[in-house]
Amino acid sequence: MTGTGNLDAAPYALGRRADFPLLAANPRLHYLDSAATSQKPASVLRAIQHYYETTNANPHRGAYTLSAAATEAYHGARARIATFLGVADADTLLFTRGTTEALNLVATAWGRTNVKAGDRIVVTRLEHHANFVPWQKLAQATGAEFVIAELNTDGTIDMNALESLVTPRTKVLAFGHVSNALGTVNPVADLVAIAKRVGALAVCDGAQGAPHLDVSVDSLGVDAYAFSGHKMLGPMGIGGLVMRRELLEAMPPYQYGGDMIAHVGDQHTTYNVLPYKFEAGTPNVEGPIGLAAACDYLTALGMDRVIRHERALVSLAMERLSAIPGVTVLGPGADRRSGVVSFTLEGVHPHDLSQMLDADGVCVRAGHHCAQPLMRALGVHATTRASFYLYNDVADVDALAASVNTARLRFAGA
Ligand code: ALA
Repeated sequence: MTGTGNLDAAPYALGRRADFPLLAANPRLHYLDSAATSQKPASVLRAIQHYYETTNANPHRGAYTLSAAATEAYHGARARIATFLGVADADTLLFTRGTTEALNLVATAWGRTNVKAGDRIVVTRLEHHANFVPWQKLAQATGAEFVIAELNTDGTIDMNALESLVTPRTKVLAFGHVSNALGTVNPVADLVAIAKRVGALAVCDGAQGAPHLDVSVDSLGVDAYAFSGHKMLGPMGIGGLVMRRELLEAMPPYQYGGDMIAHVGDQHTTYNVLPYKFEAGTPNVEGPIGLAAACDYLTALGMDRVIRHERALVSLAMERLSAIPGVTVLGPGADRRSGVVSFTLEGVHPHDLSQMLDADGVCVRAGHHCAQPLMRALGVHATTRASFYLYNDVADVDALAASVNTARLRFAGA
């Protein structure tokens, strides 16, 4: 059976494997691990190569023309990425190595100066370790209380329970835009409203939001939004933190060194303006340039089409997998999730299953997905996770379902 039933025709125009050299070179590969990292279109690779062939120099350092061109390329990329993410004040978009570094930056630079003993930090049970451990460690370092908001059985946040936890003592409410393990899309506006009621910092881990949703950070109303370039068609090692200007200006720097200073005296140092204050040392220039090209690619496709395409594939994958005896699909319905389907197969460890799928060219992630607190609540050690993006199509869903079914039969007969 080829599953084309509940898909409207238009999204299939998105399955442009030809734009992605790795996929084009491996026509039998079913890459279903885009929540871990996405493949890169040729336009991104070309932009990086072009930069090194024509513009490479250390930005901000030289008065010569080439260095000025590198500086312009670097900040031009920042402006394009800010536009893509709906950030009007581009200087409040700081480049980091990715979401993990961005969240550590907030927890360290803002947290150490604003959180004290007796305060409360609230996170949700859905969080990736990167939006959990930095807050847990901040609580330990300051004597604040670390509280976890629990979930409904379908993997959505229990909003009533969360609201009752966010008391006037709460200084931080940290939540993901989209769960990397279950794909749950969280109600960001409601979470922000709850945080604002008590004046808590609303921190959003957008690692799985920015690549898959039509994100306007300014409209979300969050105080801080972290994202990673490599999950949204860009290169690895680049991502960012968007944070409200007045908060960034009041915060101490995260790292010290070249470029982030205004004046270095023998005993005292003053700091540069935004964004430089938070970008110590020679920056990663190729990263923003590649990521800006990725944003252009996504803009040309249209994020509304990307979302429709993924929802259609996820809904089909959930239907096909659920029909296989012994498979349990975890998390909410397709209407409340982004491009992720996490599941278990009775009697088969996810690592064994993923190896069997690999033999059929199906790439999925198996494990706890850097979300051990969530796995404990689900009562599992690990799941198998298929995650979709704009270059996937029905053939990938077919291959996944067929391969899982073959594995089931093989284990049943073993
Ligand atoms: N956070 C990435 C994932 O979910 C690595 O796979």
